[in-house]
Amino acid sequence: MSKRLKLGVVGDPIEHSLSPFIHSRFSRNENININYLAYKVNDDDFDSFIKEFFQDKEARGLNITLPHKKRAAMIEGKISQEAQYINAVNTIVNKDNMLHLFSTDGIGFINDIENKKFSLKDKNILIIGAGAAVESILYRVAKAKPFKITIINRTIEKAERLIRKFANMTKMQTKFEQDEPFDLIINGTSAGLTGEFSPEENIPTDLNTHFYDLNYSLTETPFCKWANEKSDIVYDGMGMLVCQAAHSFEKWFNVFPNIDTVINDLNQMRE
Ligand code: ATR
Repeated sequence: MSKRLKLGVVGDPIEHSLSPFIHSRFSRNENININYLAYKVNDDDFDSFIKEFFQDKEARGLNITLPHKKRAAMIEGKISQEAQYINAVNTIVNKDNMLHLFSTDGIGFINDIENKKFSLKDKNILIIGAGAAVESILYRVAKAKPFKITIINRTIEKAERLIRKFANMTKMQTKFEQDEPFDLIINGTSAGLTGEFSPEENIPTDLNTHFYDLNYSLTETPFCKWANEKSDIVYDGMGMLVCQAAHSFEKWFNVFPNIDTVINDLNQMRE
């Protein structure tokens, strides 16, 4: 029997995380022996938790989730260019006596939307929201050569900050024309999981508009409910969740796991 490698996800709250389920499926399918646990750790204990966790020589890595992704970007180690730019880390790899820090959220989003046969290139994209979830995918979305990215947000200054930060990568704006329907509308607001989704603006769409909620849920999210009234091309972030996990797994084990079986398992839990 091979050594049982220690992994996990750190957040607060963490009770409803699907990461232990996803990684246990990946490791079973790939025949890798892991012990992946969810750790509830508050802000005050975060640094000491990380230090202690990696004192164990079987500790291969961690996923970091809310509210610690920004804090994790300050951990001593080697941070990727992307993670540094977006100032967020969701994956730590313990290798060669050093912690390597990455964000796999952006590539997870790109991977999932490409699996859905949608290319971002030359597309007119609307992003609703301007928090950390949006910033974590923006680096990759901006680099995918879209026609234009519009960001709208309840607090306009936060949208403007992101636009200033990413304007050197692609064309960006905070206002849109009614006669230019969006090809893709991404919801990155955390308002997404409770109540009703009802944007103040009249958002131009057509029959080809794709709708993507960065939030996921085993039941229909409010954004998806709103979008389903306009279109059949509506996705939540479940695929992205599995894809970002798969990229973390690849960083730990140099194997890209089969995602389809895990997405199927999760979709069955929805029914
Ligand atoms: P996260 O890190 O999950 O992205 P965040 O940084 O707090 O969380 O950002 C949450 C996003 O959801 C923000 O764009 C926020 O808008 P503000 O910048 O105006 O705060 C948006 N959001 C949260 N609750 C909202 C609500 N009730 N209506 C509209 N937008 C909301």
